[in-house]
Amino acid sequence: MVRLREFRLNRLPVSGRLLCTFFLVCMGIGFVFSQLNVFFTYSRADGIAAFSLQDIVLTYYGQPDVLLVESKLNGTMREHLENEYERNSLIHWAKGGAEKEKSNEVKSIILKNCLLCHTAGGDAAFAPFDKLSTVSDIFTRINNGMSTHRLITLSHIHMISIGVVLALSGIIFLFTPINEKLKMILLIFPFGSLLMDVFSWWLTKRIPVFAITVFIGGVFMVIGFFIQSVISLLTMWTPSEGSD
Ligand code: HEC
Repeated sequence: MVRLREFRLNRLPVSGRLLCTFFLVCMGIGFVFSQLNVFFTYSRADGIAAFSLQDIVLTYYGQPDVLLVESKLNGTMREHLENEYERNSLIHWAKGGAEKEKSNEVKSIILKNCLLCHTAGGDAAFAPFDKLSTVSDIFTRINNGMSTHRLITLSHIHMISIGVVLALSGIIFLFTPINEKLKMILLIFPFGSLLMDVFSWWLTKRIPVFAITVFIGGVFMVIGFFIQSVISLLTMWTPSEGSD
């Protein structure tokens, strides 16, 4: 009878090893896609394709002296317009107070280029452009960064889903033969990074310099997961001495 403390992953039947392997591989691919998603969603926040700390600052802290729509049309929303003329028309209208009476031209631009996502069920349903009054409201907002409501939504989804993945990966990692102290550090590391990442979003909303810890937290979390996975997979598929 093997005691739990001495149990190692390579003693699992092949079915158990396959389950753990496919779980770790799928979650690893999931993490890669989540990083790509962050990259494609936010890397153009400052209008330049490369991902930088400035993108993180613009996303969470904003640009308190610029209208939200201007900053978005120079950044992530730029590609949705066909030409500079349309962009200038929208910005000009927003700067003039987004008045209903002067909305004829912008209405058709928004209908053609923006409504696809900025409506119920679209990618940007949280900022719907179906009604002119809401458009005026959003177009006259200052860029205060991510809204508290969106931060709450993103924080709870992030914490719960990634927390569960890290817990399952951690349980598998428990049964590797590495030194107990190192094991503790490697188990806590990705959770600490997750906490750092999410809390730094909230801090960056107030103080831009925390963009650095958003970045470090995000990267360390993924690195921590990959280190655990590699050690678990190596243990799982390497026969130990004297094992059958
Ligand atoms: C392909 C989908 C898509 C299209 C088309 C699109 N948007 Fe967006 N929009 C988004 C997403 C997703 C976000 C949230 C991410 C972000 O802020 O970059 C967003 C955010 C915004 C915001 C910030 C809203 C807020 O409250 O934070 C503004 C303003 C905006 N878009 C304006 C526009 C305008 C103007 C157009 C048309 C020229 C447009 N968008 C076209 C998907 C889209």
